[in-house]
Amino acid sequence: MILSVFSSLFANRAVQDLTRDALLAMEPEVAHRATITALRLGLVPPAQKADEKELKTFFAGLEFSNPLGMAAGFDKNAKVHVPLGAIGLGMVEVGTLTPRAQEGNPKPRLFRLMGVKGVINRMGFNNEGHQAAFARLKAFRSRAITGVNIGANKDSADFVADYVLGVKCFAGVADYLAINISSPNTPGLRDLQSAEMLRRLLGEVLAERGRQKIRVPVFLKLAPDLSLKQMDEIAAVILASDLDGLIISNTTISRDMIAGDPLAVEAGGLSGQPLFELSTRRLAQMRLRCGPDLPIIGVGGVHSPASALAKFEAGANAIQLYSALVFGGLEMLQDIKNVLVEAVRQKGQTSISALVGTKTKEWAGEKP
Ligand SMILES: Cc1cc2nc3c(=O)[nH]c(=O)nc-3n(C[C@H](O)[C@H](O)[C@H](O)COP(=O)(O)O)c2cc1C
Repeated sequence: MILSVFSSLFANRAVQDLTRDALLAMEPEVAHRATITALRLGLVPPAQKADEKELKTFFAGLEFSNPLGMAAGFDKNAKVHVPLGAIGLGMVEVGTLTPRAQEGNPKPRLFRLMGVKGVINRMGFNNEGHQAAFARLKAFRSRAITGVNIGANKDSADFVADYVLGVKCFAGVADYLAINISSPNTPGLRDLQSAEMLRRLLGEVLAERGRQKIRVPVFLKLAPDLSLKQMDEIAAVILASDLDGLIISNTTISRDMIAGDPLAVEAGGLSGQPLFELSTRRLAQMRLRCGPDLPIIGVGGVHSPASALAKFEAGANAIQLYSALVFGGLEMLQDIKNVLVEAVRQKGQTSISALVGTKTKEWAGEKP
């Protein structure tokens, strides 16, 4: 995103390369802030091409003009959901937002693993809090489906109560809510994935949703660091609830896929290309457990048209990306769309939904 936003400002190839190098030389958080500013100032041109009809996607009562989304964490405070919708994304997930503003962890807390196109972050939910984001979401509507990802303050006495506050605050301005219990950077947060805690969390969150004027779809965002047994238990809880869908996955705390990289010692969640296999396998494994009808948004390591297509084949109804865009290539969005449309047509079909879950069993495999 960082590089691609800037390079899209310049038609000249040599200038693009210079911009790319300059941004890569910047401290990653500085480059991120600069990108948000460029988007806010309207410096990024809108998508040139309307989405093909094959890309139209429907689930959870939502209609997406295409199934490509910006994953949570890029636009934490809902500052650029409108321009992100204009550059060709069909979905933008803002957040994670906590009830009160918080600083997050000390810097440095964001690292690029250049050789493997990975990212490690331990941001720790740095954000401006519910009210600031609510005001922006109320004032400005994006043309993309806009999800609001909610979390808990690090020092909260009751994590579940923070999610309930999130539902109360955003139910009227979000197209969907994402319950993020999978960030590795808030101690204790991932414990909410245990069956007992999850039952209580979903009970309270979905009861609060039921008290709102509008029935907003609620998705649950899971970690890839789950055992098959944990996934069995989570699936049983979900299927007994009124949850609308899953987002799989967040970053991983595993370092197996980058063993030997000097940055592997950094604490935090790993994303990008090294996460692709694990997150796609977990997606397929949850698809098998939850059946064909539960909507699942696939995220983790999408870095090319082929990897995007694989997420659908593994069982995703839509996909999101973040890290790949850090390394450049807004052009990749259109490349992904082209390959998806071509894959639909090659099957003699008319909708992207024809690609969903065609290789779930292969992806699920036998590995733990
Ligand atoms: C810098 C950074 C910050 C992130 N912040 C959040 C966050 O606040 N909430 C969340 O649910 N996921 C967050 N994520 C995780 C992404 O939404 C996504 O699940 C993960 O990066 C895997 O996708 P990717 O490989 O395409 O990056 C963050 C990721 C990165 C790289």
